[in-house]
Amino acid sequence: MIKKCLFPAAGYGTRFLPATKVIPKEMLPIVDKPLIQYGVEEAMDAGIREIAIVTGRGKRALEDHFDINYELEAQLRGTSKESMLAGIRSIINTCSFSYTRQTEMKGLGHAVLTGETLIGHEDPFAIVLADDLCFNGDHGVLAQMAEVHARHGCTVVAVEEVPLSEIHKYGVIAGEEIEPGVYRVDAMVEKPAAEVAPSNLAVIGRYIITPDIFDILRETTPGAGGEIQLTDALLQQAKQGRVIAYKFEGRRFDCGSVEGFVQATNFMYHEKMDGADRRKNLR
Ligand code: UTP
Repeated sequence: MIKKCLFPAAGYGTRFLPATKVIPKEMLPIVDKPLIQYGVEEAMDAGIREIAIVTGRGKRALEDHFDINYELEAQLRGTSKESMLAGIRSIINTCSFSYTRQTEMKGLGHAVLTGETLIGHEDPFAIVLADDLCFNGDHGVLAQMAEVHARHGCTVVAVEEVPLSEIHKYGVIAGEEIEPGVYRVDAMVEKPAAEVAPSNLAVIGRYIITPDIFDILRETTPGAGGEIQLTDALLQQAKQGRVIAYKFEGRRFDCGSVEGFVQATNFMYHEKMDGADRRKNLR
C-alpha cells in the first residue's frame, strides 16, 4: 500500500509564458479544475492520503487551493453554488498536505531530493508530475501502478509508446517484456536523439519509487540540460534490476505544452458533458 505522493511543482513552466508568470503552471485549469487537483484525485484513487508538494517562489496559490476559504464558503452556504466546492472540500478533509520549497530550480531529480524531508526513508512513495494529465475512468494510472508495485516490490515507472520524432522530449527505457506491457528495465536515457533512442517507450510523469533513490540522487551529478535528472538516478536502480516499466491503460496529455493542454481541455469537457448527460438519463 502506497501512503505518500510527492508532487514536484517548482518548475518555471516557461512553455506557458506569459500565463505562468504569476500563476503556477499546476494551477492552470482544465475545464473547471486546476491540473494539480486532477493529480491529487488520481493519487487518492490509488488509496494515497498523504500529499507532499515541492513548491517554489510564486507558488503560494497551490497551498491556498488545498485550504479552506472561509469567506467564500460563508458566501455560498445555502445557495445553489454550494455544491461546487464539495469536491475540493472533501479532498481537504480526507488528505494531509505538506510543503517544502526548492530554492534553486536544478531539475526534477533535485526537486525530488528536496522532497526527502517530507517523504522520509520508510516506504516506497509515488511521484506525480501534475502537468501530465492522465485519465482512465475509475481505474487511474497510479492505482494500476500500485498493483504492479505490489507484485514486483520495486520501483515502477509508467511508459507510453511515442513516435520517434517526439522521443527527444522524454526519458526512454529499454528492457525485457516479462508480462504483457510490463518490462524489466536495463537501460534508461534522458532526452535521446531519435537515432540513439533505446526504444520508443517514453517515461511519463508517474512513478512509484523505493526511498533509496534519495541516497542515489545525492550522488547524481548534473546530466542533460545541466539539470539533476531523475532518469539518471533511476538508471542506477535499473542496473541492479530494480526498475519495472509499465505500459499503462488510459490517456495521457502533456499539459505542459499548449497543444496537449488544448487536447486535454477538449477531452475533459466532453467527459464532463457525457457524465452530466448520463446522470440526467438516470434521473
Ligand atoms: P518540466 O520541465 O516539465 O517543467 O518539469 P518546467 O520546467 O516547469 O516547464 P518548462 O519546460 O519550463 O515549460 C517536469 C516537472 O518537474 C518539476 C516541474 O514543476 C514539473 O512538474 N520541476 C522541474 C521542479 O519541481 N523543479 C525543477 O527544478 C524542474
